[in-house]
Amino acid sequence: MRNLFQNLTRRKSATALMADYERDGNIHGTDLIRTLRLKDLVSFGIAAIIGAGIFSTIGNASAAGGPGVSLLFVFTAIACGFSALCYAQFASTIPVSGSAYTYAYASFGELVAWIIGWDLLMEYAIGNIAVAISWSDYFTAVMQGVGLGIPEFLTMDYLSASRGYNTALELLAKGQALSALPVRTQEAYLAWLNAPSLGGFKLVADLPALSITVLITYLVYIGIKESKRTANFLVLLKLLVILLVITVGAFYVSPANWTPFAPNGLAGIMKGVSAVFFAYIGFDAISTTAEECENPQRDLPRAMIFALIICTVLYVVLALVLTGMVPFKELAVGDPLAYVFSRVNLDVIAGIVAVSAIIAMASVLLVFQYGQPRIWMSMSRDGLLPGAFSRIHPKHKTPYFATIVTGFVVAVPALFMNLTEVTDLTSIGTLFAFVLVCGGILVMEEKQKETAVTHKGFRVPYINGKYTLPLLVLVAILLLLYYNEAEVAAFFSLSGGWESFQHKLPLFGFIAVTAVLTTLSYQRSLSLIPVLGLLTNLYLMTELGITNWSRFLTWLALGLLIYFAYGYRNSKLHNAEKTVKA
Ligand code: ALA
Repeated sequence: MRNLFQNLTRRKSATALMADYERDGNIHGTDLIRTLRLKDLVSFGIAAIIGAGIFSTIGNASAAGGPGVSLLFVFTAIACGFSALCYAQFASTIPVSGSAYTYAYASFGELVAWIIGWDLLMEYAIGNIAVAISWSDYFTAVMQGVGLGIPEFLTMDYLSASRGYNTALELLAKGQALSALPVRTQEAYLAWLNAPSLGGFKLVADLPALSITVLITYLVYIGIKESKRTANFLVLLKLLVILLVITVGAFYVSPANWTPFAPNGLAGIMKGVSAVFFAYIGFDAISTTAEECENPQRDLPRAMIFALIICTVLYVVLALVLTGMVPFKELAVGDPLAYVFSRVNLDVIAGIVAVSAIIAMASVLLVFQYGQPRIWMSMSRDGLLPGAFSRIHPKHKTPYFATIVTGFVVAVPALFMNLTEVTDLTSIGTLFAFVLVCGGILVMEEKQKETAVTHKGFRVPYINGKYTLPLLVLVAILLLLYYNEAEVAAFFSLSGGWESFQHKLPLFGFIAVTAVLTTLSYQRSLSLIPVLGLLTNLYLMTELGITNWSRFLTWLALGLLIYFAYGYRNSKLHNAEKTVKA
């Protein structure tokens, strides 16, 4: 048993990480040249952050929560900000351009590293399925705009088509005209109606989503030096188009649309958690540039925070503009930023927005489609995945096998999967990675207290949590009781049996973790920021519902199965230790 525990927590030393880095430098394309400055890092961050979240999923979030969703953008940004600081500490402590996977391998050992690596697959690959689907929504709209409409059944997923068709049937039966139904429902109705059948199975698939993934995978396969050059242009384009939407849209805001501010209450706003969080994913990618920065200790944390602040301001204002331009319910479309302008008959602006969105989202696809194979490559080099994943193409110098597998993993589900479902999965997986990263800093700090090693590089500013955390928890409880006493009572009542209780499980888990962390903070004067990071991200996870939790846990279980079947035995560290013992 002791042996198993030791194996699962075996760590890769910083020296080994550096040795790997020296060897891999060329493949990563970094060559240890420290050229990136603060503005480059902020720009890199924005390139990864602004994408499907703000161009697309903001629509459904606003349709559920109304204008109040803008507050959710602020809360989520704060949670992300805490995690950003923790990422920055890792990135400057372990000076290799790995992801959270590498940090975890050095600080917590193999099992946690595997879990994070497996989990990052949700952030990168599943996230990219969502981006590809949203890209397709804009692309389809543009094609329609130029008179090259693609049949609906080739532009959406099976589930959306069948659900939308049934909703449309119900509404039509109530006497509503097809043209009066929400755009998305009309499209789904037509998709289902016109789709060819094969043995009773309707052939509905998102062809543009597949095509863009194949194209981007090809670019990543042949090496993306060209795309690096265009990165700055893309960032500028994204910022310009969002500013255009905000400034032009502001003239069409009718403040009446902002009342009521939270038409479906807090519950309605919280329905948007995964969509809103999704919009911020990507800032963590800045930490992967650790060795290319002129001054990583100073610039990495700043860049992450600056990128987050810029995006938060844009997102909050944008959410207010969108919900001010049209009644919030109308925003349940895949291309809300273009839709609002066609609604006020500004078709030219709608067209400009849609075309820019197509280009902007493709850049997000590129960032994650580039990142995923490299995480696999690191895992394969450590022996946790088969060697093929780290094979390098002789000519293109890219991890070609891992790149092709990533292409499949993203392209095939993009044909069939539903946007909401993939966004939820991405968000829950990424939130979990953030929870682990914040927890990681806490463990690291505790270890340093024991060994009295002085910390070099950036450190999350230390605020003593001894009294502050208990105080904050107390204030939160009092506020909850004051404003939501009835809901709190309903939560703790056990009526409703298992059916109702199971939905409360994530929140009970959160309460337990809060209680433990509050006690530990009091006893050991824990650093407040990582604790708050852990708790806020965990709280956001609890809002994602039991279905997503069970999918996520199944995913983790599958990951563990693969680890014990393969990685545990083939780990290079394991084999090296065995050789030494022998
Ligand atoms: N934040 C990225 C996007 O919204 C993942 O596309």
